[in-house]
Amino acid sequence: MADLSTTYMGLTLPSPLVLASSSLTNKVENFLAAEQHGAGAVVLRSLFEEQIEAVDSALQEALSKNSEISAEAQNFFPRQVIGPQEYLRLIGSAKKAVRIPVIASLNCVAPGSWSGYAKQIEEAGADGLEVNLYGVQADPAVSGAEVENRYHEIIAGIRDSVKIPMAVKLSPFFTALANTVSRFDATGVQAFVLFNRFLQPDFSVEKLSLRSDMSLSQPGEMLLPLRWIALLYGRVKADLSASTGVHDAAGVIKMMLAGATTVQLAAALVKNGVPYLAKLRDGLEDFMDKRGYGNIEDFRGTLSQRVIREPGAFERAQYVQLILSQNS
Ligand SMILES: Cc1cc2nc3c(=O)[nH]c(=O)nc-3n(C[C@H](O)[C@H](O)[C@H](O)COP(=O)(O)O)c2cc1C
Repeated sequence: MADLSTTYMGLTLPSPLVLASSSLTNKVENFLAAEQHGAGAVVLRSLFEEQIEAVDSALQEALSKNSEISAEAQNFFPRQVIGPQEYLRLIGSAKKAVRIPVIASLNCVAPGSWSGYAKQIEEAGADGLEVNLYGVQADPAVSGAEVENRYHEIIAGIRDSVKIPMAVKLSPFFTALANTVSRFDATGVQAFVLFNRFLQPDFSVEKLSLRSDMSLSQPGEMLLPLRWIALLYGRVKADLSASTGVHDAAGVIKMMLAGATTVQLAAALVKNGVPYLAKLRDGLEDFMDKRGYGNIEDFRGTLSQRVIREPGAFERAQYVQLILSQNS
């Protein structure tokens, strides 16, 4: 029987399947189901910059009114502004419930008090920390270089402040992604999660208003992370974790052939339920058994750009050939 265990961010995982940060990862029952059905790790829902700012400003206000305010007084704040404390409790509950690694998640866009929160997350017992840099850069006055410097500052600051392994979850929207990832890699982070997926507002033509439905990914969306994992595999020190568009066992296998160390699943499990993980695990195991692969390293990265015979296929060459061969 194939051995599915792997090492991700320096942590030992019984399988490369990861329950991604999502609406599923704020409940202990889902962590238990994930472990039972073949997940190698879980990533908690994110603690958002906005939640932290809400607490900071509520505290500032309270402190300005009463300099004697005690730490316990925070418990009296409205429910929506005690996010970070609830978050630390969630880490504690998750750690008690499962043996697989529990990775916490911070979702931020600007330099701030992340190091302090990262330390608290570490002290609460998280095995690792995923930092999701999620921002739509719509200000024409802000250049790509400024955004990347800001992200670098956030990453390096958090990396220096904790000992637990750290992953950085990025969007694909960088002009020179390979360069950006290499630069972030030099901070010593342990993994890159490629990619986060932006919520895209839509319009209602009937109501002439904005619609922000939470639309789930489609399987075709996995081709973007697939290409970038194949391009970056072996070129950065950090592990690569696939996210977006993986909906079946073939998707998991493809990401690993590209070079992913772990494959994260959100939409597929929101749609089919957490026990669907078992189907993905069985499909992966089946593939490995049929091909005679004893463990993950026997095939991981074998279709990456570094290894295949036509490296141009991942870049412009494939595009030119395909366009020129179309005769409709
Ligand atoms: C309902 C829902 C909630 C999510 N919440 C978070 C979150 O809190 N933090 C985060 O980093 N990603 C979050 N994500 C993004 C997923 O982790 C993942 O990157 C994205 O959905 C693409 O993967 P998928 O195709 O498997 O869904 C969320 C996704 C969904 C569907």
